[in-house]
Amino acid sequence: MSAESTVVTIEHFQYLAQRTLQDDALLCDLKTASDDAGIPGISISPEQASFMQVLLKLIRATEVVEVGTLGGYSAISMARALPADGRVRTLEICDKHADFAAEWIAKSDVSGKVEVHRGPAQDVLPRFETGSADAVFIDADKQNYAVYLSQCLRILRPAGLVMVDNAFAFGELFHDNPADPEVPAVRAFNEIIAVHPELHSVIVPIGDGCWVGVKEENGLHR
Ligand code: SAH
Ligand code: DHB
Ligand code: MG
Repeated sequence: MSAESTVVTIEHFQYLAQRTLQDDALLCDLKTASDDAGIPGISISPEQASFMQVLLKLIRATEVVEVGTLGGYSAISMARALPADGRVRTLEICDKHADFAAEWIAKSDVSGKVEVHRGPAQDVLPRFETGSADAVFIDADKQNYAVYLSQCLRILRPAGLVMVDNAFAFGELFHDNPADPEVPAVRAFNEIIAVHPELHSVIVPIGDGCWVGVKEENGLHR
């Protein structure tokens, strides 16, 4: 690490959070209802949602594919960054999560912009048309991240945007004996994406670490 880097502490996170758009009433109510329904509180942070919205606006994305819907928090957030004819196709294996998300998407301001696709993402992604997405967000079971990445790169248009959650492995990236069984899968995936020949990517230290990459088909221009 070079002298240009500041070690980001909890103070910096609080500082940036206090200067970033926070959840509106709908997203607050969604989180409360999600807790009440016993759905895990593992959606992305409001700061990460804003960051992803900025990226989607910058590339003028209309078509987004998300792997891992949970309660619909990130899908609704991303849909809000799209134009009126934009669409988020979000994939979810768990019917309880998909039912909850569908209910909250229907009540939201972006009900016409989000489609929930049920089933294992490894079965659903192969049905999506090649080159049909401007951006993808991968945030489901970590052991299948490499499978999702290769399918998503097929679905993504040239110069499309890749975002992947949990690069910091739930804060356990450097733990010798991590409590979460998915930590080794995150570490293995990080090594794959870091040197992927079709991607120029960087980990952004927001939330639990968010990989951001651009699809480069004709060789890397790093
Ligand atoms: N992106 C969401 C959080 C997703 S949590 C947000 O920020 O709001 C991860 C989700 O992936 C869970 O709902 C889990 O049920 C789902 N999931 C796990 N394995 C999956 C699979 N094989 N295919 C599709 N979804 C899966
Ligand atoms: C977990 C999964 C996530 O995608 C996340 O952002 C946080 C936690 C989990 O499975 O515990
Ligand atoms: Mg996540």
